[in-house]
Parts: sequence; C-alpha cells; structure tokens
Amino acid sequence: MSYLAQTDTQLHDIINHETERQINKLQLIASENYASPSVLEATGSVLTNKYAEGYPSKRYYGGCEFVDQAEDLARERLGKLFGAEYTNVQPHSGATANQAIYFTFVKPGDKVLGMDLAHGGHLTHGSPVNFSGKLYDMVSYGVNRETGMIDLNEVEDIAMREKPKMIIVGASSYPRNIDYKAFREIADKAGAYLWADIAHPSGLIAVNLLNDPMPHCHVVTSTTHKTLRGPRGGIIMMGKDWENPFGIVAPKSGRTRMMSEVLDSVVMPGIQGGPLMHVIAAKAVAFGEALQPTFLTYQKQVKANAARLAELMVANGFNLISNGTDNHLMLIDLHNKNVTGKEAENAMEASGITLNKNMVPFDDRSPFVTSGIRIGAAAITTRGFRENDMEFVAEVINTVIDNIGNEAVYEDVRSRVKDYCSKFPLYTELTD
Ligand SMILES: Cc1ncc(COP(=O)(O)O)c(C=O)c1O
Repeated sequence: MSYLAQTDTQLHDIINHETERQINKLQLIASENYASPSVLEATGSVLTNKYAEGYPSKRYYGGCEFVDQAEDLARERLGKLFGAEYTNVQPHSGATANQAIYFTFVKPGDKVLGMDLAHGGHLTHGSPVNFSGKLYDMVSYGVNRETGMIDLNEVEDIAMREKPKMIIVGASSYPRNIDYKAFREIADKAGAYLWADIAHPSGLIAVNLLNDPMPHCHVVTSTTHKTLRGPRGGIIMMGKDWENPFGIVAPKSGRTRMMSEVLDSVVMPGIQGGPLMHVIAAKAVAFGEALQPTFLTYQKQVKANAARLAELMVANGFNLISNGTDNHLMLIDLHNKNVTGKEAENAMEASGITLNKNMVPFDDRSPFVTSGIRIGAAAITTRGFRENDMEFVAEVINTVIDNIGNEAVYEDVRSRVKDYCSKFPLYTELTD
C-alpha cells in the first residue's frame, strides 16, 4: 500500500513517473544501476529515524543496539567481499569518502597526482571547481594519445619529476583494467601514498574479474551504487591496518594510533555528523547480495555485455577510446560522426536512451559540450539483457546518431525501446 498516494499525491506522482522512466527507457549511464527491492526496503526503513554519531559500541547517543548490529554487519560483509581488514561504511557519498582520504593523507598545499579529468579522472581528483583542486597542488597524468590507455612510463616520469605526496589511481570513464601493483612501485619510488578510487569497477573487482587494488594500495575508496548495485553512498577500505606515519598518538596512553582509528575519526567527527543508518543497513543488504554466487554470474554478464556492445559499436564505425573495454563501460569519441556529446545525449534522451555526454582524452570542446559519450552495461544487465540483446542496443544508438535532428526517427526508436524493455520486467512490485 502506498502512503504517499494518500498523503502527498504530488510526490507520489513524481516517484511513479520516475519509476516508469527507469522501466521504459534504456538505461546506459555507466554510474547507475537498479538496486534490488531489498536494498530499497532497507533504504526506506525506520532506521532513518536514528541518530548514531560515533561507531558501533562507541556512540554519542543511546538506543543504538540495533543500528550497531546493522553497521557491524555492513562492515563485516564488506571486509569479506574485498578481503579488507579495515572498512568504514559511513561516508554519505563517494565524494565524501574521497574527502576523508585527502584530510587523512595530505595537508592543504601538498602535491597530489591524479588522472586528468578529460582522460577519465573524477571531479574529486583535482578539478579546479572541486575542494580537491582548490586546496591541493594537483598535477595529472592521462592516457596515451595512440593507445587510449594509461602509459605507466609517463606516470612514472611525472611522479619522479613532481614528487607528489599522494597518487590517485582510478577513474570515472576509463574502460581498461588497471595495474595497481605497477602504480605501487611508482608510488614507492616517488615516496608517495597510493590511493585507489574504485567507485566504478568495484563490483567487478569484488568478484575478481579485474585486478585487485587491496594488496597494493595504502587505502581504497568506492561508491556503493554503481557496479556494486547498492544504495547511494561511499566506503573506505584498507587491505591491512597499519600504524599511522603522521605521529598521531592517543592522548592518554601516548600509543601510536592505527590508521583505522585515524580514518574513522577523519570521517566522524572530522567531516560528517550522524551516519545515515538506513543507508548503512541497505549497504549491508547489498554487500550480502554481492557475496552470493549469483553476483559473480551477474558481473560476468556485465563484462560480456560491455565487450559485445563495444565490438558492435566498433563494427558500426564508432571510435572507442582504447578500442574496447575490459570493464562495464566504454568511452566513444564522436568526432568522426560529426556530432558533439551534448547533441548525442539530447538526441538519445528524446529516443528513450539515457546516457551521458563525456569529455574524451585531448578533447577540444568544453565539459558542457564535449566530444564523446560514455556507455555502461551494469543497469541493463541487472534487468536481464544478454549478449544477443546488445545488437538491439547498438542498432538503436547507431540509428539515432545517423539521424540527429530527425524527430520521426526519435519517436520510432522511443517506441521500439519501450517495447524491447517491456520484455525485461523491472520493479513489478513497485508499479500500480
Ligand atoms: C571515480 C569516482 N569517484 C568518486 C565519485 C563520487 O561519488 P558520489 O557521486 O557518490 O559523490 C564518482 C562518481 O561518479 C566517481 O566516478
């Protein structure tokens, strides 16, 4: 039964329309997914009512016995999923988790090396409009112009020249497997901490379909809502706990604090107040789902679908950065199609296909226009698309790109997309 239908019809309608949009359109945004009904249930639970500043058994509030259990379960499951000795499930978002890493490992003005935004990096990896770019001395590496892949020799040259205090490895639109071991060797040579931001491929990493950053990085962050398929949020992990190298000691005993204690205190009280206990419970549900054998099957299908779609796009004359993909996403340079990223995104939207414009390496257009699009397979795989369905996906994208400005084509594609999507029922329990 819907309470909103009786108490707030305006918002009830808005949510219904959004549910229908998610069901009827082809969802190709690489950073999105469809969380399970169980994850949604936990997110919408009474745990939203509870204040629980602090950590399990060390709260500033009473009445935390059950939320403590939820947070312990989330941490335990997450540790098991990634083989991490330390986990923090409180960051409200990926950006907040990343903020905690800066606040822990570097001081304002320190040099940090991250991936160039136009080459795949995230806003929090040094964009001038983000706190990272404002507070730190950011330098960047990119991909090789010919291969479209990270050139480790170039990263090493930059690291040795710039001597950053910290190196960030990870991206929002990099389609290839990353060699974390090689990055650690570079970081050690340059005397830098190594932080992996696996927000995008974390679901694939969790089931060992991509290289594992945990043994090689000082610290790892992720979001929980992309390939991990949980609620919107962030996490912080370390493979092994270690004594902090910053001389931080416990005030009474004088004991050197462990990094786990330092990171915990940077998240709360350093950055956040009360944790979102309903979201933490939903994270626990999602990590539990990710520990099931079906999650490996799902991620294998994500990878297979992305690989097949990439192959079909190349066959249709699209220029894929690095010529393919190892993970769930691909980045397409539209220069040869004479279409900007913005035009493509708008045309797709009008045709029932949701994806986003994206800068491509060495882009000559602004972030508001861009020369590319990014496509991800995580969400359509959740609703049941298989390799053979990629033919339909590639065909409709190709048709729209070949007919920019043709409203009749948009309308035809929109109706075909809706029909096709109806073969893959989604959230049937949520629709009236
Ligand atoms: C690599 C990377 N890091 C961090 C984030 C930030 O996550 P959030 O949007 O939850 O703040 C994103 C989001 O797209 C991302 O791609």
